[in-house]
Amino acid sequence: MADYHILLLGPPGAGKGTQAAKLCEKYDLDHVSTGDALRANKEMETEYGTPRSFMEAGELVPDEVVNEVLAAALEEANGYVLDGYPRNLDQVEYLDEATELDDVIFLDVDRETLVERLTGRRVDPETGENYHVEFDIPEDEAVRERLIQREDDEEDVVRERLEVYEENTEPVIQQYRETGELIEIDGTGTPEEVFDRIIDAIEE
Ligand code: AP5
Repeated sequence: MADYHILLLGPPGAGKGTQAAKLCEKYDLDHVSTGDALRANKEMETEYGTPRSFMEAGELVPDEVVNEVLAAALEEANGYVLDGYPRNLDQVEYLDEATELDDVIFLDVDRETLVERLTGRRVDPETGENYHVEFDIPEDEAVRERLIQREDDEEDVVRERLEVYEENTEPVIQQYRETGELIEIDGTGTPEEVFDRIIDAIEE
């Protein structure tokens, strides 16, 4: 599916990164994640400061910075799964001009599950792979020992990210819902169960 374009939407911790990796593997697509791209450039000096200052506080990085990051990532990708963008209505407009989408998928997960998933997430600093202290423990002891917690996964920052999502990104979800584009998926259950639901919906 060389030029297939999937947009994955959902609150922080909904499983966008987890499902994007599975979709990319199944359909041979590139993963475009503004969160990952910003983390790779978090010390970049911009007129607004570094991305790090916004990310550590759980705030959105200014559109001017993120739009550039997105444009560069889309230019390199052919078929892709996009995750983390758009997060406000101005970004929806920017995305509309930049590309066309085939499927817009929303992962629906309740707030307490989100908090549990995010505060328990651990990252392997060597591979960037995500794990979870309860739901996804690495088998390799060496990997288990080197896991770290993302700075924005501490509970107070998680709660701030959820507020920022409600205020800025819920209107984005509502807009795609109103245009009839939104495929709404129950994001609870195991990663495999969620993945099967997504596949059933897009191959229907
Ligand atoms: P970003 O990295 O995009 O973070 P996010 O949207 O908050 O999403 P997460 O990566 O936290 O969660 P996810 O939905 O991918 O869940 P995951 O699969 O990892 O953005 C970070 C920051 O960058 C933002 O706060 C902002 O500052 C900035 N930024 C990024 N894009 C921007 C933009 N467009 N505009 C402005 N600023 C922007 O899963 C989470 C955990 O749950 C993992 O531990 C996983 O193992 C576990 N898990 C996943 N699925 C399941 C399941 N089904 N059952 C049990 N556990 C599960």
